Amino acid sequence: MTTAQTPALTIPGPPAQLGGYLNLIKMVRDPIGEMGRLFSTFGPLVNMAHGAKVRFLSSYPRTEGVVFVRGPELLRQIATKSDIYHRYHLLGPLAPGNHATRRQEPLRYFAAGLFDMNEGEHRRARRLMLPAFHRKRVENYRDRMIALTQQLAAGWAPGATVDLHHAMTELTMQIVTSCLFGVDPHSSGEQIGRTIQHAMDVGFNPATLMVRYDWPGTSYSRFLDIVGQIEDAMRRIIYEKRLGNSAGDDVLSMLMQARDEEDGSMLSEHDLLGHAELLFIAGHETSSNALSFTLLLLSQHPDICADLVDELTGVLGADPPTVEQLRELPLLDRVIKESMRVLPPVPWNSRIAVAEDELAGQKILPATEILMSIYHTHHLAEIYPDPERFDPTRWEQHDYGIFEYNPFSGGPRMCIGASFATMEIKLVLATLLQRFRFELVEGATVNRFVGPTMSLRPGLPMRVMPQDRQFQRGAGNLRGNLREMVHFPASTSGRRH
Ligand code: HEM
Repeated sequence: MTTAQTPALTIPGPPAQLGGYLNLIKMVRDPIGEMGRLFSTFGPLVNMAHGAKVRFLSSYPRTEGVVFVRGPELLRQIATKSDIYHRYHLLGPLAPGNHATRRQEPLRYFAAGLFDMNEGEHRRARRLMLPAFHRKRVENYRDRMIALTQQLAAGWAPGATVDLHHAMTELTMQIVTSCLFGVDPHSSGEQIGRTIQHAMDVGFNPATLMVRYDWPGTSYSRFLDIVGQIEDAMRRIIYEKRLGNSAGDDVLSMLMQARDEEDGSMLSEHDLLGHAELLFIAGHETSSNALSFTLLLLSQHPDICADLVDELTGVLGADPPTVEQLRELPLLDRVIKESMRVLPPVPWNSRIAVAEDELAGQKILPATEILMSIYHTHHLAEIYPDPERFDPTRWEQHDYGIFEYNPFSGGPRMCIGASFATMEIKLVLATLLQRFRFELVEGATVNRFVGPTMSLRPGLPMRVMPQDRQFQRGAGNLRGNLREMVHFPASTSGRRH
């Protein structure tokens, strides 16, 4: 974090307190709440700490300040001007600089991939990767997604209490391990999946972010150990695929064979490492958050859940859906859209300006860090009347524009895994809801947890019942600050939050 005295950005915002550090602390403690308060006071383009040149998430040590934006027009301008607004390494302040040590070298690839590329380099990489994510290709993963969901469900005893958030994270981790890497998720896949997840948890721990010294015993040193192990494991997977001539139908095998149609080049081993590790990170926690939020919302909206189970039974009977049948389930589609509107798994996208620009009549200076809030755009009453209401019927009357409804972003960096994620979420939800009713345990406290994604803490304790259609049970049981984001039925225990 860096500070300087001269204010440069003229964008309105609260005065910097303690050189901006106090403003930063408020953001770190409750980013959704704090951003919401700033938008309400200062409008859709707001400077986090007027006059302070602090950084929040960026990998650039020096910034002109941190600016938040909401609303479809500002999101569109920033997302589409990709020559001015660059993305940076997902690790932000942990990204290695020009003088990385040998132990820091693996950080160049860890969680890098497309996120650490811009302009020509990014366009070339996307050209090479897009065929592996084409809808028709992705549909080949349907059987694996269903089988892994059924295996998970087979382990649930009727009436047992399960942390569904943990279960959904395990499931989506197994799905990406199998579909992206072609590795058996129950053997070595489980290992690599958990290790990558562990690295993210250690990396985004304040102890790692604040004391970035590779000294024995520091959290940062442990982080470097884990990232080194991940690189070794990924290199082994790539090596074994090369020995088998990359014949698998998984995404990594396809990337290893991909050839650029313009210049005939292929992805280097370093590129492959970066893409594979980022795909794993970007591809499992997001989907698991969407699944957890949707199951929670359904458990608290009994009428909607009843209609959805009717639809599933009517179209599918007792069988898991085929890809074609997914198109015959309009309510399932609306429920998922509305869930990702009201609780988007990725609440914001981040950029750094690399050239001067103007937004809403305000000058943006090079090195301004920008956060584009998907969450606050999705909660604008002028687009979504009664925005905190979970109401899938709003999708019957309206088709929203891509920057009004933006869970997968838009423009040249739109989520490459959107078709994969949408199919996966539909298949998993349909398969589970046909067999089970999920009842939130009484007094469960569920809070938002916002990092690069939005998830929930401490977990999602649900009783797993056979699908007996007693949808009212467990509705009203929720406590915690998700109640600030969605209108949930009143708590049956009579206590709020
Ligand atoms: C519900 C699930 C998901 C959500 C909400 C989501 C959301 C997003 C968003 C908002 C972005 C744009 C970031 C930006 O503009 O800076 C993004 C990018 C990306 N996503 Fe997803 N994602 C999901 C699932 C997946 C899956 C399943 C995969 C891979 C299998 C994936 C891979 C990626 C990659 C590689 C990028 C970077 C694209 C680029 O920079 O060109 N995502 N995702």
